[in-house]
Amino acid sequence: MSHDKIERNVGLMGVLIAVAISFGGLAEIVPLMYSAEQVEPLPGMKPRPALEQAGFDVYIREGCYNCHSQMVRTLRFETERYGHYSLAGESVYDRPFQWGSKRTGPDLARVGGRYSDDWHRVHLLDPRAVVPESNMPAYPWLAETPVDGAAITANLAALRTLGHPYTDEDLQGAAAAVEGKSELDALVAYLQGLGKHAPRG
Ligand code: HEC
Repeated sequence: MSHDKIERNVGLMGVLIAVAISFGGLAEIVPLMYSAEQVEPLPGMKPRPALEQAGFDVYIREGCYNCHSQMVRTLRFETERYGHYSLAGESVYDRPFQWGSKRTGPDLARVGGRYSDDWHRVHLLDPRAVVPESNMPAYPWLAETPVDGAAITANLAALRTLGHPYTDEDLQGAAAAVEGKSELDALVAYLQGLGKHAPRG
């Protein structure tokens, strides 16, 4: 009997087990790859304006994601603290995505509008000035570093090739939009835009 042969031959059994597992894996992984491509932005959502996108780049460069996630889970104690749980459509214009699970500090997916711009400025320059027990590092150089207009224009153009629907006007106006702005201005604009498109509640 062939079943007998397989059970008596460890090598053959190993190969057949590997084949069976790969089919199982393919059946689970391939549909996910397609559905990830089909995630649509939430209604009314546009790619970030130049200044906010410059802030996103500062956020990545400074490694803020090492302490902050941007994904509210579908658990009651999370939604009561942060607001509506995160939806895939909110992250379509994040490259790289910022979901994460490391929370030395709070989740930031819904932080937009929670504090004033001035609060963020003081907090980023000297966190302990507003939250005495904070162990968040200070980022004093951001206020003195101007946003590079040419770099953000090139950045938006590159994102457009990846499918972010920036218009020609967006690209032409990018340098002017960040003119005279510091990296601190950009980061605060980015933070204030977080969660803007989330459903209320
Ligand atoms: C070493 C870990 C660490 C890093 C790195 C870090 N943070 Fe924080 N962050 C914290 C902690 C802890 C808190 C809570 C205490 C406080 O408010 O300062 C916090 C709070 C915040 C808050 C207030 C959130 C709220 O809901 O009250 C914002 C906004 C924030 N961080 C932004 C940033 C940004 C932007 C960066 C990168 C430039 C950054 N953090 C880097 C640890 C960190």
